[in-house]
Amino acid sequence: MDLGLEDKAVVVTGGSSGIGLETARLFAAEGAQVLICARREEVLAQAASDIAESTGGEVRTLSVDVTDRGDIDRLAAVVGDDLGRVDVLVNNAGTGTYKPFLDVTDDELVYGMAINFFAQFRITQRLVPMMIRNGGGVVINVAGETGIRVTAPPFRSSCTGPAKAAEIRFSKVLASELGEQNIRVNCVVPGLVNIKERFAKWEREMAKEELDSEAAAMTRREWGRFIARPNHEWGTPEELANLIVFAASDRASFVNGAVLVADGGEDKS
Ligand SMILES: NC(=O)c1ccc[n+]([C@@H]2O[C@H](COP(=O)([O-])OP(=O)(O)OC[C@H]3O[C@@H](n4cnc5c(N)ncnc54)[C@H](OP(=O)(O)O)[C@@H]3O)[C@@H](O)[C@H]2O)c1
Repeated sequence: MDLGLEDKAVVVTGGSSGIGLETARLFAAEGAQVLICARREEVLAQAASDIAESTGGEVRTLSVDVTDRGDIDRLAAVVGDDLGRVDVLVNNAGTGTYKPFLDVTDDELVYGMAINFFAQFRITQRLVPMMIRNGGGVVINVAGETGIRVTAPPFRSSCTGPAKAAEIRFSKVLASELGEQNIRVNCVVPGLVNIKERFAKWEREMAKEELDSEAAAMTRREWGRFIARPNHEWGTPEELANLIVFAASDRASFVNGAVLVADGGEDKS
């Protein structure tokens, strides 16, 4: 299927790792002009060279903290100068804090809203004028399953869930408001996705220890017990990237304001 993404100007936040990295790789493989941003320059450089090696595509990088308003202004300026336009914005940078409600600190609460919802709102507000000038575009906001359901312990999500729910509502409202400008806005909602670094963080925080590979695999199965596929395998970043890139393509032209859940049929009801 030709996705029609050749030469499209694409921005992927959090594009140096996990879901963002695989999304950027897939856009590059489709011939798009991709800019990835994240905080750590060396990880961005590694991601760009990895994508170049696997796809032959050239990816631009920019070090920004999406919780910093000055950095977001700089991102908008660089996108304008370097790409000249933006056809697709993937608001993917985000993170989760999973702790019992009474243990969540005020800093974690504020950061959770800042990196998840505020960053998506602010970046979209800076880049949408470019889309309007160019006759349209697509925004994909990456949220998370804690925004649509109460997740099974140990994923206690009083801190992250409301921020992810805000991203979903934001996407719906924007789709309605920007449709007349030929801008589609959809929200991709991942379930449990196996990203090495992220799982290591969860191990430390929730299992409260470092696990060897066998114990980690067992823990993943246990935590993923509601995923409805063989061995309760978690999703992969590539599986999420496939959905994001399809939703961003003209092949999904009638998909707007949608909440696209990719969670392997996870259900604990
Ligand atoms: N993995 C899952 O199971 C899962 C489940 C539900 C939802 N999600 C959502 O999916 C999205 C991607 O998750 P992932 O698991 O692929 O994440 P990941 O592998 O941890 O990658 C996160 C990316 O965001 C960047 N980033 C983090 N904080 C940033 C900041 N303040 N400013 C700019 N960039 C920042 C990271 O690079 P730097 O650290 O260098 O900045 C990295 O490129 C997130 O929104 C996450 O909440 C993931």
